[in-house]
Amino acid sequence: MGTHDLAATARALVAPGKGILAADESNATITKRFEALEIESTEEARRRYRQMLFTTPGMAQFISGVILFDETIRQKADDGTPFPELLAGQGIIPGIKVDRGAMALAAAPGERVTEGLDGLRERLAEYKALGARFAKWRAVIAIGDGRPSAYCLDTNAHALARYAALSQEADFVPIVEPEVLLDGDHSIDRCFEATEATLHRVFRMLEDQHVVLDQLLLKSSMVLPGAKYPEPASVAEVAEATVRCLRRAVPAAVPAVVFLSGGQEELLATAHLNAMNAMGVVHPWPLSFSYARALQGPAMRAWRGEARNVAAAQQALYHRARCNSAAREGRYTPELERAAAQPAGDRRP
Ligand code: 13P
Repeated sequence: MGTHDLAATARALVAPGKGILAADESNATITKRFEALEIESTEEARRRYRQMLFTTPGMAQFISGVILFDETIRQKADDGTPFPELLAGQGIIPGIKVDRGAMALAAAPGERVTEGLDGLRERLAEYKALGARFAKWRAVIAIGDGRPSAYCLDTNAHALARYAALSQEADFVPIVEPEVLLDGDHSIDRCFEATEATLHRVFRMLEDQHVVLDQLLLKSSMVLPGAKYPEPASVAEVAEATVRCLRRAVPAAVPAVVFLSGGQEELLATAHLNAMNAMGVVHPWPLSFSYARALQGPAMRAWRGEARNVAAAQQALYHRARCNSAAREGRYTPELERAAAQPAGDRRP
């Protein structure tokens, strides 16, 4: 039994008006994102980028927790303050991605299984000493010809549950993240079926492995048509399908569902979350955000690796955090979105 109240931490991560900033891109992933903007991806550039994010003035009004990557949790700000301490000093809870990525699943072409269980108990102990209080593990589920297979769903759900049990044992709130990928030409109905099947398997396995449901967060993808599907779904359709799917499969004991953005256009990720929270019905769980791309995208494009762009990049992050905070309460409006055009001095409290 650990020393900290995991259910209280889980609730704090979804305190009213707040969501999670995912800043846990692996070096390979952030390098890809930097290279698309012609930013060189050195350890120092990644440190300066994350420092820019984590020192955004006023961010703690909207951001409850930040998910870090192994390299990042060991890095320090210019003044020598370790990043976890820098965040905790603002009332932001530091978290850590503990999976080691999705690898090809043997004998299942086109499907992947997430690895990282070996040595996880020891790594969690180390991350705890470094200040992390919650953890994340992402499984990826592809939709395609004959996919997802029951084999892929089972192996990923099994690993997610093993990770979640180890995390709770080590006094961490596990974020359980089965991501149904946006890639493909499938309809929204196919995505609904795949997401429902995934969530049923995950919760069955969590129960089998003695994971305590009120001490975790579910990080889910939304129910969306594939990126190559010819007809886009409306914001209302996505919101309705996502909520209906979650209600079928997610026990009410789960403290909250936080969404990943998954490559959705940034403003749409905000609009979808808002629509779910503006339905006029009380959901069994708060619905919040844990976005990487949909929060960081405009900030990274503004920053471009240059110290002179730090203030503009921070304004961009502040704005997306503020809009998603409003969406988390169903109060996102076009006027709020347009407020980005105002100078920072007018927008900050
Ligand atoms: P995106 O919001 O960019 O999908 O990232 C969220 C995340 O943490 C993926 O694991």
